[in-house]
Amino acid sequence: MEIKWESGDIKENRYEILLMGVFEKETSKVKSKILKSYGFSKYSEKLKFTYEVKQTAFINGEKDSPNLFLIGLGDKTKFNDEMMRIRFSHAISKIKKMRMSSILIIPPEKSDAQHEAYELAYMALMTDYDFNRFKSKKDDSIEKVGIFSATDVSESIRLGTIIGEASNLTKDLANLPSSIGTPTHFEKTARGFSGVDLKVFGREDFLKLGMGGIEAVSRAAREPAKMLVMEYKGSDQPPVLIVGKGITFDSGGISIKSSEGLEEMKFDKCGASAVLGSMYAISRAGLKVHVVGITPLTENLPGGNAYKPGDILTHYNGVTSEIISTDAEGRLVLADALSYGVKNYNPTAVIDLATLTGACVVALGNNIAGSMTNNLDLQQKILDASKKTWEKVWPLPLDDDFKEQIKSDVADIKNTGGRPGGAETAGAFLSNFVDTKPWVHLDIAGTAWTQGKTVRKGYISRGATGFGTRLLFEYLKSCEKGSGSVKK
Ligand code: BES
Ligand code: MN
Ligand code: ZN
Repeated sequence: MEIKWESGDIKENRYEILLMGVFEKETSKVKSKILKSYGFSKYSEKLKFTYEVKQTAFINGEKDSPNLFLIGLGDKTKFNDEMMRIRFSHAISKIKKMRMSSILIIPPEKSDAQHEAYELAYMALMTDYDFNRFKSKKDDSIEKVGIFSATDVSESIRLGTIIGEASNLTKDLANLPSSIGTPTHFEKTARGFSGVDLKVFGREDFLKLGMGGIEAVSRAAREPAKMLVMEYKGSDQPPVLIVGKGITFDSGGISIKSSEGLEEMKFDKCGASAVLGSMYAISRAGLKVHVVGITPLTENLPGGNAYKPGDILTHYNGVTSEIISTDAEGRLVLADALSYGVKNYNPTAVIDLATLTGACVVALGNNIAGSMTNNLDLQQKILDASKKTWEKVWPLPLDDDFKEQIKSDVADIKNTGGRPGGAETAGAFLSNFVDTKPWVHLDIAGTAWTQGKTVRKGYISRGATGFGTRLLFEYLKSCEKGSGSVKK
């Protein structure tokens, strides 16, 4: 999809359809001029179109002029970015079903033109996304989107295009079945990021470096396991470290899962997918930040050589863990990735994303990710970013009680603390691997894909949602301005 800035005479353009949202009682000159030239005031009475939210109207263009798709945006004072994304996204989906492939969008003009152009650009890309590469019959996709504005918004569109493509890359990696979305596939994808330096560790390195967590989890894997270390040096400051869980398929291992819904465990690589999407976005956008992205990638399978409950592992930083369940594998691979990043890169902030616990889904549902931290200042920055992107995040506690709950009789810690506080004990486990660095752990088990039969919601597609990509990008953008740094 190509997205372009358009200005000038609106009737002179070469788009099949014009998409315009109008607020109740709106008097914008451009908009009323357009409506007038379509004779819409005439139709409007017949249709009883009052510009309330959810109203739509389609008008057939005469002769060479484009068609018009009108959406009611309701009360302007109640309108926000998320409503803009959802309302325009629904309209684009409908237009797509009408098999039109070029759309000119007239922004609502509630906030500034640059901001709206940015938001509309990535919304359009995310809306058009469809994981259809394995379908023999594919829907047509939208080829051209114009964003109409009197001011030059091409730079905002460029940025919006980057983040839209990055979110779609995240979704693609996450949607791929585990036999194709392998650790090797992630490596190949990361190799394509220009301006990003890539180091790749394999099983031999795990053994040599003493990464006992990913070594154990990957022991029975058939696909070669990899830990990717991606570095983007957009500034000379010490880096922000982002880490993503990349279990390409989670069978549970010897503590095997039941088979119902097991196909969804291909999504256990959503954290790593979001980290790759973010690395793509920041490098293409040329953000002036230093970022290290680490993704431990492996499948978690049973086998004669698999790791077992009762095993004791030694992680990269020397902390030992007793295995109670081989299904609590995410924290084990993250332990090595986090401590490796902390020790070798001395980051100013650490953020990890992981589809870590079913308990988090029970606590917060499918629209809110859980956040656990050792630094409220950093967490606030993430919450601020989340308010902008509507990738919702809610703080969960990391009390000492949870740290007590995972003490082991035979090792430093154990990898489960039983059912109570399952999301928090997982967070408490990870807290042993970030030293004293400001750190936020995001449990995205509920938000990373639309579980079960949930229908798509506007620009968020079914299957992988891309959760975390825009959030990380937004946070890293704030670091560029210097406001991302935190008090120790
Ligand atoms: N990948 C799962 C968590 C998960 C489950 C995410 C369902 C999304 C939906 C994780 O590896 C896991 O199996 N966690 C266990 C931990 C338990 C054994 C302590 C869980 O949540 O049941
Ligand atoms: Mn598991
Ligand atoms: Zn898992």
